[in-house]
Amino acid sequence: MVLRELFSATQVHERVEQLAGQLADDFAEAALVVIGILNGAAPFMMDLLRLLPTNLASQVQYDFVVATSYCGTESGGTVELSRELSVDITSRLVLVVDGIVDSGRTLDTVLAALQKRAPAQIRTCTLLDKPSRRQVAVPIDYRGFEIDDLFVVGYGMDLDGAFRGLRHVAVVESSSEEDE
Ligand code: IMP
Ligand code: MG
Repeated sequence: MVLRELFSATQVHERVEQLAGQLADDFAEAALVVIGILNGAAPFMMDLLRLLPTNLASQVQYDFVVATSYCGTESGGTVELSRELSVDITSRLVLVVDGIVDSGRTLDTVLAALQKRAPAQIRTCTLLDKPSRRQVAVPIDYRGFEIDDLFVVGYGMDLDGAFRGLRHVAVVESSSEEDE
């Protein structure tokens, strides 16, 4: 297996900075509830929060949900949520953050679960978007990068638990020996 760099740590950081700037423009001093989808969203969401200006950052609450579906490089098809929220999102402005949107099932499942709690509004944010893989239409308000149908790792994205700690994003390619 070979890893090929797709976005360098610098490219990722600069894009996250831009997204934080967009959030700052759009939400100003709103009391935003940011909800990350674990495990993949963690590095992206923490960097995003740290880059918010003080007026917005001081109002932000955050929490996480846990969603699992993938096994190796293929989605298992069903998405399970296994963590209850500790923040009350009723009548709140919510931003759901994930590292990557692929089939759309995870985000769709999370959005449906959150809608039941009657938030005022839900916006969505993902670092990476693979639109060609979509099975379920999901709204994406803030997007870092659109990518082709590639399996990527790094910056929260894993292959069976590995590579999440990389600061850059890489494509997993099988080596020529494995293909033979
Ligand atoms: P979806 O439910 O198919 O949209 O997939 C979303 C979830 O699948 C993400 O939160 C990731 O955990 C995982 N995932 C999708 N594509 C990739 C990838 O290219 N690399 C690593 N994980 C991925
Ligand atoms: Mg995964």
